[in-house]
Amino acid sequence: MKHLRSLFDLSNDDFHSIIDVSRSLKARLAKGERPDLLKNRTTALIFEKASLRTRVSFEAGMAQLGGTAIYLTNDVGWRERETIADFVRVLSEYCDFLVCRAISQKTVNELAAHDVIPVINGLTDEAHPCQALGDVLTMLEDSDGNLRGKQLTFVGDGNNVVRSLIQAAHMTGMKFRLACPKAYQMHSAFLNQVHRHYGEVDFVQSEDMHSMLRGADYVYTDVWTSMGQEAENETRKQAFAQYQISETLLASAPDHCKVLHCLPARRGLEITDEVMDSCRSLVFQQAGNRLHAQKGLLIWLAVQNGYLDGYSATSA
Ligand code: CP
Ligand code: NVA
Repeated sequence: MKHLRSLFDLSNDDFHSIIDVSRSLKARLAKGERPDLLKNRTTALIFEKASLRTRVSFEAGMAQLGGTAIYLTNDVGWRERETIADFVRVLSEYCDFLVCRAISQKTVNELAAHDVIPVINGLTDEAHPCQALGDVLTMLEDSDGNLRGKQLTFVGDGNNVVRSLIQAAHMTGMKFRLACPKAYQMHSAFLNQVHRHYGEVDFVQSEDMHSMLRGADYVYTDVWTSMGQEAENETRKQAFAQYQISETLLASAPDHCKVLHCLPARRGLEITDEVMDSCRSLVFQQAGNRLHAQKGLLIWLAVQNGYLDGYSATSA
């Protein structure tokens, strides 16, 4: 059974197939077409943390594809009434997909380990693969379909979003630069895993944000304090104070460079209002693309898991 626990679950071809289907479904939606490819199919969502984009884009995406989404709340007794194994086995009797936003990657891995329902990681401490799919879709649209050789520079915390972006950048032939205080940079354990999986990757991390911004086609940031790290908020504010994406900072990047943020943003901290609302900001297009990427992922998983005979991305 195919799952999306992290982008390590996708080959290069898989990754690009999902992007192609996403682009095709977006083009079809623009023409008013909402093909009911997942008619009578059901996606369950279980979220241990807050969400606007991930939750609503999966729910809306399922509706547009003719299916249903069920957002599970506390009354299902998640982790309280029965084991994860029993929970997922029962859920698989009713539903066709499960999206889980979990505090720990281990939870998503455990849900998938039973191999009874395709499990999609809707964000964990280690990864945010759905975000990276939407981000690549956004950059591809901005780059006329070719990202090879372009540079993505992330300024800020080396977090879950960054991990998935490093993988996505590699699979699209992009260079990835991380401008980040030393204490928050990528750990060697993750980088070793990346190297074992992909071989050489074009990745550099440094505290020197100006050198990381040089040559950037895209500059990306995220909150300095992720959900669950609130106790570190003050320490992090100090550590990242110099890493705010402002017009001043962007003077170190080429004029054509565009700005991304996975959202939600803490305006005035990691990014200024001026940049968020400027014409170089892609953030709302990027948020919108979560819908199309979620739909592409669901269709790809449906095909892989035998729910659908196939989908031709060229049919748009
Ligand atoms: N970017 C993102 O995943 O947003 P949500 O936390 O609102 O889902
Ligand atoms: N790094 C952030 C991403 C939110 C979409 C977090 O984990 O809170």
